[in-house]
Formats: sequence, C-alpha cells, structure tokens
Amino acid sequence: MFTLPDLPYAYDALEPTMSAKTLHFHHDKHHATYVETLNTLLREAGQTPGSLEDVIRQNAGGGPGAKLFNNAAQAWNHAFFWKAMTPDGGKPSGDLDAAIRASFGGLAQLREIFVKEGVAHFGSGWAWLVAEGGKLSVKTMHDAQDTVTNPATTPLLVCDIWEHAYYLDYQNDRKGFLGAWFDALPNWDFAASQLAAANGRGDPWRYATPKALAKSA
Ligand code: FE2
Repeated sequence: MFTLPDLPYAYDALEPTMSAKTLHFHHDKHHATYVETLNTLLREAGQTPGSLEDVIRQNAGGGPGAKLFNNAAQAWNHAFFWKAMTPDGGKPSGDLDAAIRASFGGLAQLREIFVKEGVAHFGSGWAWLVAEGGKLSVKTMHDAQDTVTNPATTPLLVCDIWEHAYYLDYQNDRKGFLGAWFDALPNWDFAASQLAAANGRGDPWRYATPKALAKSA
C-alpha cells in the first residue's frame, strides 16, 4: 500500500502565493484520491510492487495499464510537487546557478521560458525544469505524464498546471499563478540536490516504498 505523504510544511506556509484552502483541496482531496485509487487498482490486480517508480514504468504506454499509470504517475508527480516548493526557497546558488546561467542565460530568462511554456501548454499537465543530456531545459507534459519513464531525464522542479492547482486563488489566470509561483515557491535546495544526482552525486528523489498489506487473521 502506498501512503499519501504529508506536506513538508504547514498548510498556510505558502500563502499568499498558494492558499491553505488550495493546499487542503489539492493535497487532502486530489492527491489523496490518486493514492487511494492506485492502491485499489493494485489490490484488484493482485500486484505488490516494490516501488511506485516500478508501477509507473511497467504501466506506461497506454493499454490495459493506463488507469494504473495515470493514478501512479499522479501520485508521484504530486509528491514531487510538494517537495519542489518551500516557503523559504531563496535563490539558486553554486552548481545550480551555474547550470541555469549556462542553459538559459540566467534566472530571469529561465522564469520567462517557464511561464511562457506553462501558459502555452494546452489543457492539464505539468511544467518541469529538468536536467537532460548535460543541460537544463523546461518541458511541459500532459495529464499524468511524468519524467520517471525517461531515465535520461532528472526533474529538478515541477509546477502543477492543472486548474485545481490555481483556480481557487487565481481563477483562470494561469500566467499570474506561474509567475507568482516561480518568484516565491521553488525549493532551490531541492533542485540543487536533484541536479547533483543527475551529475552522479547522490540519489534522486524517490517516492516512499509501499508498506506491506496487513495480513488478515
Ligand atoms: Fe494537482
């Protein structure tokens, strides 16, 4: 059974950029439902996977595993999203700052690309900052698509651009949400540790391994 991770901060810690109300709905309802549905589908299929990453990789590509993939990837993406935010993110430094300068020209240019790509993305999905092929880039992905299925890609940050992520606070203003998010919430220390992992120093973030099902008496 996979568990819903707690938020790594208080529900009101990201205000005013992201309200406690949004976080309650987003974490306690949306994310919780993905995890519950994932566990139900695994139970029905008689599967006891060793990791959420395995579930995602084994069910990618559509077909009969599509429901499992969607719920597993959404469980993963949301847990990563919570980790990728912090109330006191500061600014990128060290290797991460150097990589941002080399790949984009600087933080302002990265912000411009991140917001532009996120706004241009049609429909629901995710805006990622990733390390791939020795450089950083911004990618958007649809629905439950994620980075786990591509071993050459290491995610550094992600912003949820499903409407449920911002509608309570910004209504239809996705651009306003993305700009405010980028200015206040990225966890640059987390992004730096992910970049180090991409460069062979340490392990990238992984979803907590599942707890064994309690044996019935
Ligand atoms: Fe979401």
